This record gives sequence, structure tokens and C-alpha cells, in this order.
Amino acid sequence: MRQDWIPLNCGENGLGRSYNIASCMPEAVAFQGVSDHSGLYKFSVNESDRFWGAVARQRLSWISPFHTVQNCDFSQGKIKWFEGGKLNVSVNCLDRHVQTCPERVALIWERDEPGTEVKITYRQLLELTCRLGNLLKRQGVRRGDCVTIYMPPCPLAVASMLACARIGAAHNVVFAGFSSEALADRIRDAQSSTVITVNQGVRGGKVVDLKRTVDQAVQNCPSVQQVLVAMRTENTVAMTDRDVPLEEEMMKEDVVCEPVAMDSEDVLFLLYTSGSTGKPKGLVHTQAGYLLYTSLTHRYVFNYHDGDVFGCVADIGWITGHSYIVYGPLCNGGTTVLFESTPVYPNPGRYWEMVERLGINQFYGAPTAIRLLLKYGDEWVQNYNRSSLKTLGSVGEPINTEAWEWYHRVVGDGRCPVVDTWWQTETGGICIAPRPSDPEAEIVPGMAMRPFYGIKPALLDTEVVTGDGVLALCYNQYCPLNCATPLLGFFFTGDGAHRSKEGYYQIVGRLDDVINVSGHRLGTAELEDVVVCTIIIMFGVYVFVVLKKAVMVEEDVLAQQLREMVSRSIAKYACPDFIQVVRCLPKTRSGKIMRRVLRKVVERNTDELGDLSTLDDPDSVHEVISGHRRLC
Ligand code: WTA
Repeated sequence: MRQDWIPLNCGENGLGRSYNIASCMPEAVAFQGVSDHSGLYKFSVNESDRFWGAVARQRLSWISPFHTVQNCDFSQGKIKWFEGGKLNVSVNCLDRHVQTCPERVALIWERDEPGTEVKITYRQLLELTCRLGNLLKRQGVRRGDCVTIYMPPCPLAVASMLACARIGAAHNVVFAGFSSEALADRIRDAQSSTVITVNQGVRGGKVVDLKRTVDQAVQNCPSVQQVLVAMRTENTVAMTDRDVPLEEEMMKEDVVCEPVAMDSEDVLFLLYTSGSTGKPKGLVHTQAGYLLYTSLTHRYVFNYHDGDVFGCVADIGWITGHSYIVYGPLCNGGTTVLFESTPVYPNPGRYWEMVERLGINQFYGAPTAIRLLLKYGDEWVQNYNRSSLKTLGSVGEPINTEAWEWYHRVVGDGRCPVVDTWWQTETGGICIAPRPSDPEAEIVPGMAMRPFYGIKPALLDTEVVTGDGVLALCYNQYCPLNCATPLLGFFFTGDGAHRSKEGYYQIVGRLDDVINVSGHRLGTAELEDVVVCTIIIMFGVYVFVVLKKAVMVEEDVLAQQLREMVSRSIAKYACPDFIQVVRCLPKTRSGKIMRRVLRKVVERNTDELGDLSTLDDPDSVHEVISGHRRLC
């Protein structure tokens, strides 16, 4: 390693600088002559081997060192990072923190009823993980097998994921709101012999019979030999020969479980995407690159520091939960919240009451929830003390300006950076976000802004530097992620994006939502920003409007106002041809609008709605169908 890489604990003397750039500089390494974020970013893409090699050595604990930082050839679909290296992800997330701070809280389980949270230390989480790892081995689970986990956010779910990692099995976490058919599809596809679940879930004050859903699913899954059942509630459930009482059996196991040395590119987990675009597809993430990237982004995008409480309110069943509830924060020795409830239980102040009670420093949520909450008014936020908050994050879809401003001004009292983070299940970690950057650097509302270290975005069908196009990442050469959709050497994201003249990125929506009106390309996000609703196109623009709770307005007055707003803010050609007011939109359980369903309704093809297993509220579709009419 060249001498110009020096550990940051040599301090600013080593850097030869008198000002603090630590908030955007990986502690691992500082490069002499690199004095700011843009210099470090350039270094990360131009000298990516040196950048990632040094960061990987510093941030991860290796059982054997890697000999090659990267060995990638996109044209052959070959993506290999840190070859020769062996490590265990659970050791990186647990054992090394137990050595230095065993009593630090790893997990705060924010249970459904406010005020009943449970704290689990690193020592306790390691014990749970080892017992579970030993139990899985006793049940016949071997290195390379895939275990399906169908549980709500809870410490045993995290321990199950880490137990798989410890013994070299892959996990396949299925969101515990999916139907038995959706679960069965995923179990069959992953060929799991073991499923881990809970007797019942509790969410929004309601009890959900998860074990019963598993029973129905496994009837059609011949691969399943055993179902481990944890007890979330005290209610007993019928157990069959196949079922294993998890806590009881786990307590018979030892608290020491030898970690398996895994190759950098061995599979860590499978995860099926939400299915908002038809049949779900299973994605694979591997060990070292994934862990390194989630840990680095967690540290720098959110400016997470030791001792902070990180509150990501996603479900562990999504990639956001995997990367920013479990792997990123735990790899960093952080304290991470497991949120079991909903944003409106017992009332719309839930998030902010929790922020006050748990002292959350970084809050990471979805625009769909922010939009929902802003409809209820500011008092629900202002009733609670949010002075602990330092960074507010957003993920999942474009955040429209009104929601961004509200999040920033009301939730963050105007003092917390809002980081709109763009990424995908495929990428595994945040690719574009306003931070890290120089601490005072500008953030434009509604823009994801800057590529992270090692990420080199490209807009594929644009000819000019400033412009619009389909976002692709030519990152195979630059950062340790391993998604393989080779297209001319790019990873094709399927999202439309706009790059400003300053070089900032704005995501304008999925490619299939980028609509062509009279030859003009329009992103749905752009229109939604103006009318705060959703749009779909046939030969014109069809707008579905969801009104704020307090708004009472005649529909034809509303239609007229919307048309004027759109023509003022975008252009006349973008004016809606159809407007329909609905109570709610058909959304997936992760909050994404099911635009393909809206499209079918608009096209009057309601017999071909396709797979609705991921739909959150089936009534929303009926309502949209029955209200389908022309208004303007
Ligand atoms: C969308 C979620 C705009 C995008 C992490 C992407 C976003 C898809 C943003 C991936 C954002 C996610 N701004 N759009 N900040 N974040 N998306 O796989 O269309 O559930 O391709 O991963 O969500 O969704 P996924």
C-alpha cells in the first residue's frame, strides 16, 4: 500500500489540513492532496482499487485477506470483489463490537404499543444469534442452504438473519404482510427446507395470524421440512410434527457458535422485489462488497456517529430494512430501531413521539408516509420534542417538493439536512444522495443530488451534459456492488433522471412512468410535484387525485385549478385530460403506487389486472374502477 494512504487516526496532522473534513471523509483513509468531498469522489472513481481496497481493510474484519480488490467484466456478467478474502458477516456485525462494548444497545425493538420498547445489547444479540445458529445446524441446515424468514421486525428476526450468516446459509426474508400464495412462491423459488416465523404478529393494534399463513403456504411447498415458530404473543397456535417451538429449542443450545469462513462472493441473502412490476424476481447479494458498501453509506450518507440512535422505519422484509436496519448499522456498531407499528398508530404523532422517547438522531422513512402525515397537520409533530434529530432521510420514490419542505421545516425545524436517497434492491445500498459532501454544501429540495463514492451515473439517451435520460450506472468498475444487468457495460436502472447544469441528479420516476405527451418527455414525478397525485397515460394525461383530509372542494373547480397549475408550472401540453378524485391509491405494501393497475383501469382492461398479491388494500382497486369516469 502506498504511503499516501494514512489512517485518519493520525489526525489532521497526517492530512496536513487545519479544517475538519471528517464528515465527508471515510475515516479509513485519507489521501494526501485530497482535501474535499469532490476530490475524494474523483479519487474513488479514478483510483477505485486503491479507494475500496483501503476502505475494505480498515472497515471490515477479515479471516483471510483478499488478494484482488476487483475482477469485473460486465460484458461477461462477471463481477467479483475482494477475491481471496474470507470473512464472516455476523462476526463483523457482532463479535468485534462485543469485544469493545458488549453492553452497548444494538437493537431497540419499538413494539406496536408505544412505551413498551425492548433493548437488546450486542452481547445479548450475539448470544441469540449463536443459539439460533446452533439450532439451525441441529435441524440440518448447512452452508449454502437458503432459510426463509417470515417475521415482523423483532430481535429474533435479526438474530435469524445473522445466524444464517454465521453458519454460511443464505436467508430469504419475506415481508410478513404477504399472502400465503406470495410466500409459497418465494419459498418454492428459494427451495427452502426451513422456514422461521412467529405465532402471531401485532401491528396497528391488530393481531395477525402469521403462523396460519405459513401453514397454508407450506402445503404447496414440498421442500419445507421444518417450521421454527417463535412466540410474539401469548396465544397458542396449533403445532404440527413439522413445527419446532423456537425459543424452547433455542434455549437448549450453546451460546457459542463457531463462525464459518465465507468467501467474499458467497451468497449472503436472496430478496424478492416488491412485485410492483409483475412477477417478483429474486435478487442475490453477496458477503463482503455488500457489507462494506452498506456500512460506508450508513456512516456517511446519514452522518452516523458512535452512540447515535438510528431510526429506520422500514420493514426488515425490504432491502431498506436489510441494509439500513440490520447490516449497515450493526456493522458500524450502531444502535438501530426495529419499528413494529404503523405511522398512524395509535395516532399520527407516532413517529415523533417515538423520536422523543428513544432520542432518535437519524430518522429514515418513505415519502408515502410523509405525505400521509402532512395531511394530518403540524400539531402532531409539534407536540413532541425532536431536538435529538440530526439527519432526515427519504427513500423509495421521488419526494415531491411539498413533502420535502414539510419534512425539513416542520419535522426537522429547518435545521436537519434532508437526504433524499436513491437506490434499488438490486444495488443493495444508497447510490445517489445529497451527502456525504462538504458539510455546508447545498441541497436542492426534491433532488437526490450527488453520486456516492465509486458511483458513476450516466444518462443513457442524452446527448448533452445537462439533460434528461434513463439513469444507468457505469459502476461495475468502481464500487463493490454486484448487480448484473449488463447493457453496453452499464447497469440499467429503469429510472428516468434529470441532471442539472450543476451536475445534480433528480429522479423523475420509473421509465415506464416517463410519459410522452406530444413528443415531450414528462416524468410522473414532475407532474406529481405540481398536482400531488398520480398520473397515468394512454393518449393523454390521466390524473388520480388524493385530497388532504381537510380539503373540501367541488370536483370541477378542482379540475380547473389543477389544469391551471400544471400549465403554469410545466406547460400547456402537460395538462391533464382526465381527473379522478379517489380516497386512496392502490399501493404495494412497501408504499409504491401500482401504476400498472391504474394503467389497466384507464385502459378499461380490468380483467387483466395481474398479480395483486403485493397490494396493501384491495378495496382501493375497486374504488378506482368504480369511479373511473371522465371529468374534464
Ligand atoms: C424508486 C428501494 C426516486 C426508483 C430502496 C427505484 C426512488 C425503485 C428513490 C427501487 C428516490 C427509490 N427517489 N425514486 N430517492 N428511491 N426509488 O427496489 O424507481 O424497492 O428504481 O428499493 O424505487 O425500489 P426498491
